[in-house]
Amino acid sequence: MSTLEPAVAPAPIPGADVPDQFTVESAELRAEVSARTAIRFTPTGEPYIPFPAPLERFYLGAMRKSDIPHDVAMMNDIRVVRTVVGPPFPNPLINTQRWFVRERAFVVELFAAYTEGKFLPATSSPFNVVRECLPDGSEEYVGQVTLGPMGPQKKRLTPVNDAWEDWRATQVHSMGAVLRPEYHRKGIASAAVRLVLNEWAVPQMGCTEIHAQCFVSNLGSYKLWEKYGFVEEPSMRKPVTISEAKGGGEETDCLLVWSLK
Ligand SMILES: CC(C)(COP(=O)(O)OP(=O)(O)OC[C@H]1O[C@@H](n2cnc3c(N)ncnc32)[C@H](O)[C@@H]1OP(=O)(O)O)[C@@H](O)C(=O)NCCC(=O)NCCS
Repeated sequence: MSTLEPAVAPAPIPGADVPDQFTVESAELRAEVSARTAIRFTPTGEPYIPFPAPLERFYLGAMRKSDIPHDVAMMNDIRVVRTVVGPPFPNPLINTQRWFVRERAFVVELFAAYTEGKFLPATSSPFNVVRECLPDGSEEYVGQVTLGPMGPQKKRLTPVNDAWEDWRATQVHSMGAVLRPEYHRKGIASAAVRLVLNEWAVPQMGCTEIHAQCFVSNLGSYKLWEKYGFVEEPSMRKPVTISEAKGGGEETDCLLVWSLK
């Protein structure tokens, strides 16, 4: 009689069969997308949105599989996540692998719509990763600036204007920013948020109300949103208990709201 245990297949790794980068082969499609949006393409066909001067060495790109270890490291750095409410800490690899699969689906869906000539509205914001191009040609993962729909159940706090074009979204979107500590206080999140608002959220996704949350004590985050016209909704302040894993303690969470004027 065999004493061997029955073999248990290892759980599949989300995204294991997905290529590192999303690229667009058709030169015709690339030209049309570049003419109609702020998206540009690398020589290999990877789409990106460049930062304007003086931060031209930075850009917003779609998530690559090779970003996963960098994202995991950032989201397990207590200096970063102490002030971020949502994700668990420690943040397991599987979460980021699933996040990558979802992000890749967004960019695939966006370009499938472009292929069919559907440009507005873009239903997602797949250009969430900030990278820096270094003089030697290599790149550094800087962090993320995310934007996504909050679902139809989320109530608006500002009115819909009947004069807006019909394609504009009336649902609420949410935005967040998280950068590696090495890149803090250099104006990078400011540039990224401005870029996402001006080049993507408004002209491509048709966003009309965006929510951002942060601790009142998180001056960097609070000032970041305020700079771009987000206004705090005072009635939404609420106390938050920080998990022991993150060092414990109490904070006050607040909601800042941007609306299309
Ligand atoms: C919040 C965060 C994204 C800001 O990114 P950043 O690139 O450092 O921000 P910027 O350099 O563009 O600064 C934005 C504004 O905040 C100010 N600021 C930034 N950090 C600050 C700090 N620690 N204290 C006081 N002001 C600060 C800047 O001076 C700037 O204001 P100004 O333009 O009037 O001078 C970054 O600090 C971060 O990733 N923190 C950890 C994660 C986090 O807390 N995310 C937000 C959770 S909701």
